[in-house]
This record gives sequence, structure tokens and C-alpha cells, in this order.
Amino acid sequence: MKDYKRYLVTSALPYANGPVHIGHLAGVYVPSDIYVRYLRLRGRDVIWVCGSDEHGVPITIKARNEGVTPQDVVDKYNDIIKRSFEGLGISFDIYSRTTSREHYRTASEFFRTLHDKGVFSEAVSQQYYDEEAQTFLADRYIMGTCPHCQNDRAYGDQCEKCGSTLNPTDLVEPRSMISGSKPVMKETKHWYLPLDKYEPKLREWILEEHKEWKPNVYGQCKSWLDLGLQPRAVSRDLNWGIPVPVEGAEGKVLYVWFDAPIGYISATKELTPDWEKYWKSEDTKMVHFIGKDNIVFHCIVFPTMLMAHGDYILPDNVPSNEFLNLEGDKISTSRNWAVWLNEYLEEMPGKEDVLRYVLCANAPETKDNDFTWKDYQARNNNELVAVLGNFVNRALVLTGKYFEGKVPECGELNDYDKEILGQLPEIKASLERNIENYHFREALKDAMNIARLGNKYLADTEPWKLAKTDMERVKTILNVALQITANLSIAIEPFMPFSAAKILNMLGCEKFGWDAIGSTDLLPAGHTLGKAELLFEKIEDSVIEKQLQKLADAKAANAAAEVKAEPQKDEVSFDDFGKMDIRVSTILAAEKVAKTKKLLKLTVDTGIDKREIVSGIAEHYSPEELVGRQVLVLVNLAPRELKGILSRGMILMAADATGKLVLLSPEMAVKSGSVVG
Ligand code: 2FM
Ligand code: ZN
Repeated sequence: MKDYKRYLVTSALPYANGPVHIGHLAGVYVPSDIYVRYLRLRGRDVIWVCGSDEHGVPITIKARNEGVTPQDVVDKYNDIIKRSFEGLGISFDIYSRTTSREHYRTASEFFRTLHDKGVFSEAVSQQYYDEEAQTFLADRYIMGTCPHCQNDRAYGDQCEKCGSTLNPTDLVEPRSMISGSKPVMKETKHWYLPLDKYEPKLREWILEEHKEWKPNVYGQCKSWLDLGLQPRAVSRDLNWGIPVPVEGAEGKVLYVWFDAPIGYISATKELTPDWEKYWKSEDTKMVHFIGKDNIVFHCIVFPTMLMAHGDYILPDNVPSNEFLNLEGDKISTSRNWAVWLNEYLEEMPGKEDVLRYVLCANAPETKDNDFTWKDYQARNNNELVAVLGNFVNRALVLTGKYFEGKVPECGELNDYDKEILGQLPEIKASLERNIENYHFREALKDAMNIARLGNKYLADTEPWKLAKTDMERVKTILNVALQITANLSIAIEPFMPFSAAKILNMLGCEKFGWDAIGSTDLLPAGHTLGKAELLFEKIEDSVIEKQLQKLADAKAANAAAEVKAEPQKDEVSFDDFGKMDIRVSTILAAEKVAKTKKLLKLTVDTGIDKREIVSGIAEHYSPEELVGRQVLVLVNLAPRELKGILSRGMILMAADATGKLVLLSPEMAVKSGSVVG
């Protein structure tokens, strides 16, 4: 093992085209926050950088769709993301953005250095071009028919209906999403990073020197390397990004995956004038925390850039998690199937640590995992309230009750006390091993074991019973319990910083260093404790049901959005259409049809007569909502009897794929009997 003097920790820069969700948190930001908080507690020289990834095609598409500029999009989401990270206690040393001046300068310089060293190859290729809009088209800007499933809304890189990966040239009848016109092929020049030339070095560095990387990371790198690496274009024809800083590159920008990882360097520069110490000394341990879809960029592309540049160190490790699902389904931004951090913080104030705890306890460290609100509730109620909160509360309340909130003297420890306290250093060692090996779930269990130990100690020693007979012994027991509580405040800090701070507040203490874990004299006798408060509270079913309802609403909205146009019915002649007599009518009365769930009996004024119509809308409208409304009625439909009522005509309605019905009404009030057609 190398002897490192300092740490440089990076976390994947989130795209600034939407808020952060629990998948991002569980995969990257909660684990990296735990790691860095731990290092800080140990007094290590560590800096942690992150920021928004603000370039790339999806941001330009979002801006187009919303009728705003890409800058507007990234300004909005950078702000939301930054604030929500702060709200969850994600403690970056700097949260920057790739539209910062420093970043433009740094990324341009980096490109120029590689260019001037002759690293890049240049090649001309044919790409789709929109002649009307006079622009080359990124794959996502081309739509056409999927050659596999005939979906006529497939993108140039993927068909979202059948999941096939596509090239723009695979599309049948391609069209530009900018102007709608048919794109033409046109030559364009790009700069390529020759990954193939670095393959032997990468093989040695990853496959031989980093066998300790997580199996998912190592395995993915190995399959890439075994397939053979190809040169990769690092420029794009796009008008949003960092201009390619060489001659003959008008209209071209750096590929987002070229500039984004350089964002780690720019952010470090913004943070400290000492940045080179972190990036250019072999005794710095650099660790990239990322999601599994970023592995190739951080293990192959970025290291190649760093090697080609020559001045920089390579990462020591690239811990990457698998994906977190939500209630059994893949998290999806476009389908709004997610728990968004900004919304969580608003809807669940004071429950920051609950989310941090659940996401760590259930982190997808070795395989994809599932977040469910029931599990969230169970972990809160059965673990945070019943184990952690309960222990701290008992230790403090009992001290309040018997010793007026002052730490009692510790008498002679008996064997059992020693056995209990003797476990603290073992837990500390296990915690360190687990955190340093990126096994955060196990580490969290270690930290919670201190609370379990405390609970067991109180349950076994029963100070509330001894209080009647042996107050000296009670003093020792509560002294021990309070020392365990102080230990706990240190061990849980990386995982649950808000609760750790609360415990310290209750103990009336300043923060301890990591090495204080295992000490049994953190609180001197006579020390006055602070005010006891509840660490966690039980979460009721109604809270969880509300969240589940939110997800159910998202699902229903998706189903409605996916409503497919019904196949068109057979053609009708104008004469046939003319046979239908549709009139604006006014509903005069409405009542439920007895013994049915769906039917309402409506009395309507058709302008021709007043009549009764039975309509299947009882699940969508209440009778009261309907009276007085104008609707469209097919008045010459043959009458039929329904539940003993003669229904004369049909109220026209629109139905979506979920079966939701809505009435059709004239845009403004007109006379009943007005003809529709
Ligand atoms: O996948 C993503 O969200 C990317 N924005 C991560 C970029 S990481 C780094 F290279 F900046
Ligand atoms: Zn398809």
C-alpha cells in the first residue's frame, strides 16, 4: 500500500438539466460524503471537489423544448442542485460549474496542450447536416423510423420503444428535429483521442496494478480493453460548449465528456492556489466517486487524457456503485419516476439523516438495489428510532432523572463494563477498514453497533432498578452509557452529521476527533449535559402513503402521456357524417343510478326537448359538478334502456389510455340546441 500524504476526492459532476434524485445520492454523493467526513475527522489533508456539468446536447434540447437558452437551463438547475446538496449536508469543499471562466480556461489549455503535443489525430467524416437550420445534427437531434420496430419517433442514437442502440444512418426516413427537414450528409472534421495507442499502458495500469478495484469496475474495464480501444472524437459540431481552441475549428466545441472531468481540475484551482500539490504529486491519493454509467470515462478516457498530458497523477481508485431502483422500477427522469432531493427536503423537513441512513444502509454497492417507501419507514422506525434514538434518549433521560443532568462519577468498572467498553476499539478498527475499502453499508452497521451495544448494556444492567438499592453502581452505569453516547456521536458523524451534531449538543460538548473512539473518559464527571431532545421520530403510515400516492400519480400521468392514437377507423362519407345530429345541450339535473358505480342519470335541455340520458361518468364527475354545464350530445342516437331508464342520446367525452373521461364543452356559452358539425 502506498503511503499517501493527502487526498483529492472527486464526485461525478451532475448534469445541470434536472434536480438530483435518490439514485444519484445513493450511487455517488452519500458515499463520497461519508468518505470525506471520515477523512476530515481523522485529520487528514483532504479536499473534495464537485460541480455542475453544464454542457452537452441534452441541455440544448431541454432549452429548445422550454423556449429558453441553455444558459437559463443550467443557471436554474445549478442553483437547485447546489442548494439541495447543502440541505442534505453533502459537504463538498467546492461546488463549481463547467461554465465558470476558470473552467473554460483550464479545459481550453488542456486541449491545446494535447493538440500541441501532437496527441490528437484529425479525421474527416460524413455527418447529418440540417441545410435549413444550417447546422450539423447531434444524434439526439435526428428522428426517424426504427429499422427494428418501425417506431417512427426513434432517435439517432437509440430507439426508446424497442431499446435498440442506433446510428443516425440506421434510421429510415430521418428528419431533423430542429427544422423538420430531411438532413443531408456533409463532411466535417473532428479531433480524436487515440485511446488505442494508450491501450497497453491502460492494461498494465488497470489490469495489473489495480486488481483491488471493485469487481464491477475492474470487470467493465477489462471487457472494454479486451474488445480493443478505438480513437474517440473529442469535439462536436454544436453551438453550446467550450469552443475548440485551435484554428479551423469554427462552430465546434469540446465534447462534453472531454471538458467535464477537467472540471475536477478547474474546481480545485478555484478552491485553492495550492491546487497543483493535489493534482501533480505522486503522494496524493485521488479517488473518483462515480455511477456505473461513468466507468469508461473515468477509468479509460480521462486517465488517457491525463497520461497524454503528462503532468498529472492518475486515480488510486474509482469506486462506482450499481443503480438504485425505486419501488421495483428503474429511476427515470423523463417519466418522473424518482424521489427528487429538492422535493424531499421540502416535504420531509428535519429528516435529512433518515434519507442518508436509508440510502447508505441500502446502497447498491455490489448489485442494483431497490428503494421503497415501506423500507424507508421500517428502517426509520425499527432502526433509527428503536435503536439509535432510544439508546441516546435513555442515557440522557436517566442522567437527567437521577443526577440532574450532570455526568456522574465512574466507580470501579466490573468485568461486564470492561467487556462492553472493550468492544469500542474493535468497532473502530472495523469501521476504518470498511470505510477505507469503500464498504459503506458495512461501516454503517459498525457505527450502529455502538448504539446496539449501548442498548444491550442498559438492558442488562437495568440502572432504573438499581436506583432503589445501589446508587453508586447507577453512577458508574450511566457514566459508561454516556461515554458510549459520546463515542457514538463520532462514529455516526460521517453517515448522519445532523444527528451527530444533535447528540453533541445534548451532551454539551464540542466535536471530538476520530481517534477519540474507544476512549472511556470523553465526558468528565460533573460535566453538565445539554438539553435532551428526540433524535428521530416515528414515521406514520399516512406520511408514506402520501409519497406512494405521488408516485402513483406520476405513473398515471405517464400512462396518460403514452396514450396511443387509436388506429383510425374506416373512412366515412360526408353524407354519413352528416347523419349525426350533435347539439350543445345544458344539463338540468343529475343523479346516481341506484345500484351502479358508473352510471348517472342526466336530464338535459337539448334545445329541441328535455330528455333523460344515462351516462357512464359517475366515477369522474359528481352530480353536483354537472348541473348547469353545457355539453355536446348526439341527439339522434337510437334510444336504449339502461337499468330501467330509457336513455335518449349520448353525451360526448374524451377518454385517455388510463380510462379517464372528460366532458367536451363549447368554448363559450351558446344557446342550447346549437348545432355541432
Ligand atoms: O453522468 C453524468 O451525470 C455526468 N454528468 C458525469 C460527469 S462526471 C465528470 F466527468 F465530470
Ligand atoms: Zn425500435
